[in-house]
Amino acid sequence: MTLPIVRSVADLRAVVAGWRKAGLSVALVPTMGALHEGHLSLVRLAKAKADRVIVTLFVNPTQFAPHEDFDTYPRSEETDVALLQEAKCDLLYAPTAAVMYGPGFATGISVSGVSEPLDGLARPHFFGGVATVVAKLLIQAGPDIAIFGEKDYQQLQVIKRMVVDLDLPVTILGAPTARAKDGLALSSRNAYLTPAQRKVAGQLNLVMAKAAEAVAKGGAISDAEAQGYAALLAEGFDRIDYFEFRDALDLRRLGPGPAEGEPRLFAAAWLGKTRLIDNG
Ligand code: PAJ
Repeated sequence: MTLPIVRSVADLRAVVAGWRKAGLSVALVPTMGALHEGHLSLVRLAKAKADRVIVTLFVNPTQFAPHEDFDTYPRSEETDVALLQEAKCDLLYAPTAAVMYGPGFATGISVSGVSEPLDGLARPHFFGGVATVVAKLLIQAGPDIAIFGEKDYQQLQVIKRMVVDLDLPVTILGAPTARAKDGLALSSRNAYLTPAQRKVAGQLNLVMAKAAEAVAKGGAISDAEAQGYAALLAEGFDRIDYFEFRDALDLRRLGPGPAEGEPRLFAAAWLGKTRLIDNG
C-alpha cells in the first residue's frame, strides 16, 4: 500500500476520525524530515505502542533564528516517503507553512523553567517555536501518544511540561538516542559535515562518556566539565556552547563537587558552521 499523505488539518482530522470510529489508537511522531534511523526508531516504537502511526513532516520556520539554517536545512520528501512506507507508517502529515501559520497568526506558547538553560540560552527563540508548533500538531491530530527522542532531551522535557500545564490529553513518550557505529548521535544536520569533520564529530560522545564515568566514580563535576571542555577543543571542535552536568528531571545545574540526584551530561559543540548536541 502506498503511504497516504495529507497536507491540511481537515484531511488529517478526517483520517483520524475514521480510525477513532473503528476504535483504533493513534501515535504521533513529529519530525522536520530528512529522516534517518533515529526518526525510524521512533516510528517503530510508535507502531509497537499504537494501532496507527502518523508521522508529521514540517520544517518549522519559527524555531530557526534569521541567522540559522532554515533555508539550507536538508529537505528530501521523496526519500522520506519511501523510508516511511518501508517502516509501515500509516499516514504522513506534511502541512505547508500557510496551513500552520495562517494570515495574522499571533499566538505563541512559552514554557519557562526547563526551557531556559542550555539551548534556551544558546538559541533564545528555539523552544518557543518548538512548543507552539508541537502544541498545534497535537491539537490538530489528537493522538493518544506522541513520541520524541532523548537525543533532544531538553526539548522532550519542555514538551512534557507543556502537555501537563495545558492539560493536553496525550501521553508523551521518550525514545533512546540512535547512534552511528562510532557513537555519534544520528542527526539530519550530520549531513553538513565534511569527512574530516565527521571524524572529529565521533569524539563528542567518547569525551562525554569519559566525563560521565569520572563523575559516576565520585569525581568532582567541575573537574570533569573542565577536562571535557578542553578535550573537545583538543580533538578539533571549533567552539563549545555548553558541556554541563544537570539534574535529569528539572535541568538544574549540578556541582561543583560530586554528583547528587540524577546527573545527566549535556553538550553542544560546533564544527565549522554545524552545531552538534548530545546528552546522556
Ligand atoms: P527533528 O530534528 O526532525 O527530530 C524529530 C524527532 O526525532 C525528535 O523527537 C528528535 O528528538 C528525534 N530524533 C532525532 N535524532 C534522533 C536520534 N539520533 N535518536 C532518537 N531520536 C532522534 O526535533 C525536531 O525535529 C523538531 O524540533 C520538532 C519536534 C519536529 C518540532 O518542529
